[in-house]
This record gives sequence, C-alpha cells and structure tokens, in this order.
Amino acid sequence: MIRVLFVCLGNICRSPMAEAVFRKQVQDAGLADAIAVDSAGIGGWHAGERPHRGTLAVLAAHGVDASGLCARQVTPVDIRNFDYIVAMDEENLDGLERLGARVGERVFRLLDIVPDSPMQNVPDPYYSGNFDLVYDLVERGCAALLQKIRQEHGL
Ligand code: 4NP
Repeated sequence: MIRVLFVCLGNICRSPMAEAVFRKQVQDAGLADAIAVDSAGIGGWHAGERPHRGTLAVLAAHGVDASGLCARQVTPVDIRNFDYIVAMDEENLDGLERLGARVGERVFRLLDIVPDSPMQNVPDPYYSGNFDLVYDLVERGCAALLQKIRQEHGL
C-alpha cells in the first residue's frame, strides 16, 4: 500500500479537501486497493472536528464524498509511516521539518508538482473564505500527484 498524507495548518479547510478529492481520483482510477489517503494538521486546535462548512460546501458542489473526514494533528510517527507527505504551504513544510521530516522527494508542497503553476502555496481560506480557488488548486495538484505516484510505482 502506498500511503499519502495531506497536511495543512488546522486540518479543517485545505488538507481534508485534498484528502477527499484525491481519494475520489484514486477510486475513479481503480487504485483504491493500492493507495491509502489521510490528512492531518500542524496544529491540534480543531482535532476531532468535521471540516469547515466552506470545505463541505465546495466538496458537495463538486459531488465529492466528505464522509469520514475528521481533524487530527500530525505526529512524528506519521513522518515515518507515510510514503508521501504533501503540504499545502511553506509554513506547513516548516512545521513538518520541526517534526523531523526532510523536504524532498517524499515531502513537498502540493503545487510544487504542478507544471507551470502560478502559485506555490495553496492559500488559507480560513480567513479569506475563497474555497472555490482552493478547490481548483487542490484538484489540479491532486491530479499531478496521482500521475507522479503512478509513474513512480508503475501503476
Ligand atoms: P486549514 O485552515 O489549515 O486549511 O485547515 C485553517 C484552519 C484553522 C486555523 C487556521 C487555518 N486556525 O487558526 O484555527
């Protein structure tokens, strides 16, 4: 099993959205038995909570299943256990490094792998409310991630 962890700050807006979108893309590709998907936050303030209503609304609008999403904090064990740890922004990467992760082939930002992306950080919608922009970026990033994993694992 290839294990993928999406990471943002609170695990209620961006990374649960990426978890749900990527899981759907993996299922649609018939790879649910090969790729496991999870998400977590650098901070633990929202642990146990469902995603932000903005994330739930945009997922529903695109027909993406949001059941089962529940916030939790990333741990040092996660750093060892996951094959790909995909951060939403630079600040998340700093947080992952503080937990012992080394940024590189296995640990990177979602938009780092999108060719010609005009942005490198998925902006935090918690204050801006721009969940539609986040959805577009997440969808493109997840498609690039699936392609990368398929290439690297011959799937
Ligand atoms: P997320 O957004 O990192 O995309 O889940 C945030 C959620 C909560 C907070 C910050 C960002 N917060 O400060 O509580």
